[in-house]
Amino acid sequence: MAQQSKSKAARKTAAWYQRHANDPHVKRAQREGKRSRAAFKLTEILDQQQLRVKRGSVVIDLGCAPGSWSVELAQRVGREGLVIGIDLLPLDPISGVTLIQGDFNTPAGQQQLADALQGRAVDLVVSDMAPEMSGNKLVDQMRMIGLNEMTLAFAGQHLRLGGDLLMKTFMGEGYDQFRRQLGATFQRVKNIKPAASRKSSAEFFLLARHFKGCGDD
Ligand SMILES: C[S@@+](CC[C@H](N)C(=O)[O-])C[C@H]1O[C@@H](n2cnc3c(N)ncnc32)[C@H](O)[C@@H]1O
Repeated sequence: MAQQSKSKAARKTAAWYQRHANDPHVKRAQREGKRSRAAFKLTEILDQQQLRVKRGSVVIDLGCAPGSWSVELAQRVGREGLVIGIDLLPLDPISGVTLIQGDFNTPAGQQQLADALQGRAVDLVVSDMAPEMSGNKLVDQMRMIGLNEMTLAFAGQHLRLGGDLLMKTFMGEGYDQFRRQLGATFQRVKNIKPAASRKSSAEFFLLARHFKGCGDD
């Protein structure tokens, strides 16, 4: 029995490597020297949704390793802008990006981000974070929504009025309620599945435009 499930796992891994090797976005990322194929998800969303990251902007990149989003963002904000990335994993340095190795899901991680901001208001928060998968669909979904809620709370504290928020999520338990919360805080919210995101992946992105402020009521 153990032998059987081991060979099934091995077959799954081999199939993943096969798909990865044949993936046109992986090949393009290698050709263009990107840190990962994820770069194309961000550039596609920014360009198709006409979300212009202006020079001088302040951007937070949550779950930034290995760094392909941060690289694109740093190019767009220029030297007068600021990109701050956080990840659990260490990263090779990126020119123009302040990198923090830490857990966004802890007060300490969020304090490190706040310290790096030095009081500057944020124009754009992006998150490509996903929880470590347990294999239990409901547990993973609840962890994803937990990360989304944490991201929205952080954005609420640091975004300037009119700022934008882009985050990865999964459809499932807790999603509808979270989507309503997002809709109450931003003028427009859109669901996006970029072409560069594998069809077999449950991920998609929520783009929330024009932060309205948290209000007191
Ligand atoms: C899909 S990868 C991000 C890829 C990245 N956007 C890029 O273009 O290179 C997701 C990342 O989220 C990070 N992550 C997940 N949970 C996190 C947390 N609580 N705090 C910080 N990083 C987290 C993971 O370590 C992983 O590196």
